[in-house]
Amino acid sequence: MGEVYSADDLIGGGEVFFDMDPPARLSVFGDPVAHSKSPIFHNAALRAAGINVGYVRIHVPAEKAQAAFRALPKAGFLGTNVTIPHKAAALAAVDEADDYARRSGSVNTVAVEGERLLGFNTDGPGLVRAIHEEFSVDLRDLRVVLLGAGGGAGRAIAVQCAMESCERLVLVNRTLEKAQALAAELASSFQTDRLVGPVDRIQAIPFDETALRQQLAHADLVINATSVGMRRTDPPLIPSALITPNLMFYDTVYASGKSRLLEDATAAGARCANGLSMLLHQGALSFEIWFNRPAPLDVMRQALTSLP
Ligand code: ATR
Repeated sequence: MGEVYSADDLIGGGEVFFDMDPPARLSVFGDPVAHSKSPIFHNAALRAAGINVGYVRIHVPAEKAQAAFRALPKAGFLGTNVTIPHKAAALAAVDEADDYARRSGSVNTVAVEGERLLGFNTDGPGLVRAIHEEFSVDLRDLRVVLLGAGGGAGRAIAVQCAMESCERLVLVNRTLEKAQALAAELASSFQTDRLVGPVDRIQAIPFDETALRQQLAHADLVINATSVGMRRTDPPLIPSALITPNLMFYDTVYASGKSRLLEDATAAGARCANGLSMLLHQGALSFEIWFNRPAPLDVMRQALTSLP
């Protein structure tokens, strides 16, 4: 766990950050934030690129989020990353946001331009790069089953799938109504004359064994956007009997070790990957936004994978 600064350090003018060597001019806002791995690979990237800027963790409670975002320009910051639970608040705080950030309802990257704050979301594009790297396939060519379509992460992934117009998208959620509302919102992206067989290109289903079995027969990639499965005591998200070796599994959770879902997938002979690659690529894309140049991806990957 690294050092954590407070929202007041920033709101008070950011003197503590000017005095650092190199001066901190980038950060990640979160609550909690101590676990964030972003400073490790961003600082490695900044050093490798010869940029005299540091990246720090800032603990931002909900009631100080708007003030903390607005304090960035005066504190001399170039921008910040944003993690749970402030991605929606970040969208509200910025002066302008790109199309994907607006549609997903969340911002994970803020860039300071003069007094203005520009908002981006690199989670979806980061997932696209991660899927390509892990499985050598493009998200747009896949039939995707998304577990946990009702949360913020699930929504961001579903919107990315819609913007890519992937072959199929099945939104799975414990609370079915949320998945149904999202499916209705995204339906227009799937109204083409592309033929994919006897099933609709976008569907919403609950976590129900029969419905899942039916959908997995017409799927290539299963993405977990819930946090279920990281604890030993968690029940399986989907019954292991439904996991077949032809499927690919991507778990957006990146805690060390395999989630229950990935353990079951590995045992069934399916290809699988955890969210480390998405973390890496969303970070690399943030770097590219801040510095308008390619990120030193190998250095970032090395920093991330050498962690205990
Ligand atoms: P957010 O990302 O907005 O903070 P969350 O409460 O963490 O939301 O939930 C993220 C997703 O995980 C949601 O899709 C949630 O399902 P609901 O919409 O039905 O709440 C899903 N989720 C959380 N716990 C779950 C569980 N035990 N089984 C299945 N899905 C679960």
